[in-house]
Amino acid sequence: MNNKKKIFPSVLSASIAATMITMSSGSMAADSDPIKVGVMLPFSGVYAGLGESTRNGLKQALKEQGNSIAGRPVEFIEMDTEAKPARAPEITSSLVDNQKADFVIGPVHSGVAMGMIKTIKGKDSIMIIPNAGANAATGAFCQPNVFRTSFSSWQTAFPMGKEAYDMGYKKIVTMSWNYGFGKESLEAFNESFTKAGGEVIKEMLVPFPKTEFQSYLTEIASINPDAVFVFFAGGGAVKFVKDYDAMGLKGKIPLLGSGFLTEGTTTAQGPAAEGVITTLHYADALDIPKNQRFRQDYETLYGKPADLFAVQGYDAGQLIAQAVSATGGNTTDKAALIQQMEKLEIDSPRGAFHFSKAHNPIQTIYLRKVVDGQNTVVKVAQDHLEDPARGCKL
Ligand code: BEZ
Repeated sequence: MNNKKKIFPSVLSASIAATMITMSSGSMAADSDPIKVGVMLPFSGVYAGLGESTRNGLKQALKEQGNSIAGRPVEFIEMDTEAKPARAPEITSSLVDNQKADFVIGPVHSGVAMGMIKTIKGKDSIMIIPNAGANAATGAFCQPNVFRTSFSSWQTAFPMGKEAYDMGYKKIVTMSWNYGFGKESLEAFNESFTKAGGEVIKEMLVPFPKTEFQSYLTEIASINPDAVFVFFAGGGAVKFVKDYDAMGLKGKIPLLGSGFLTEGTTTAQGPAAEGVITTLHYADALDIPKNQRFRQDYETLYGKPADLFAVQGYDAGQLIAQAVSATGGNTTDKAALIQQMEKLEIDSPRGAFHFSKAHNPIQTIYLRKVVDGQNTVVKVAQDHLEDPARGCKL
């Protein structure tokens, strides 16, 4: 950007003028400097598939812009988080402090998100979370330079409590990996299920990223609840849904989940996933022209069907493109960029959304059912649901 030209005083001393000309030409060169996008995603481990879809979606959105925004090329710097929270501060700091990334896109795992937020707080890079749901990210730890194109833990699980009760289930067992997002999902489910009149009779927590579920499933069979509500994702979701079927529980005890249980996994889960009911802010079969176009283009580019993680990555890319276009390519003035981001409406494949004051999407949550390997919409569970953003002072 060449904004400095606009604030030149009319009279300059020679030395000041020389300095200004150097700065000015430097800033003109900066006009065509790349927009640096750091990418912190899991490319290995149990969430590797989620990381890959997110990156694919992000790159699809920027490809639609010719990989250039307001005349500036986009440069990606990719880092594998391995979904390990301990890696977050070091990688974030290398992208923010050494590489001077304009944006940092990531992560998938809530524990990694919290480490990133602590490191990026008060820094000159803008973090866009394309998946991790930790409530605190847009709650007690919300920051002016942190946005989320995904969801809060609360948003994806709270609507299912009432839905489950309305389906006639009164006594439920809940289960998830034992870390922030899983525990918050169970809490949110519990909040609305007990409010409706139901009872969670047992909560089971499995160490992350363990995928040996047999002993837990044996216990569920002996408890024989009305239904089971779980959070698992990626490789863990594939294994859980197949084990649930293989142990003969499917058809006896209905399986419910936050939507990650059947997201990007139904091909690998096969017939075991059929009929599984979940809540989420997206469904493959959403009848929205933007979704149909997005899915067609994704399949052409990557040779496989899109999923929610791809949508959220795509929307992170759309957010960057729209915000940087709105500032005419200026990424130096981060406050101006943030102001633009706060005002934007994102035309997402999930349906258009805008951000709450806490920078989390206000979005519709669907009740979904797997039919012929696709997440189909049963009904709207909650329209334009806004996270309560507990503790956020923005
Ligand atoms: C999380 O850790 O926030 C998360 C991971 C996978 C799917 C959904 C949420």
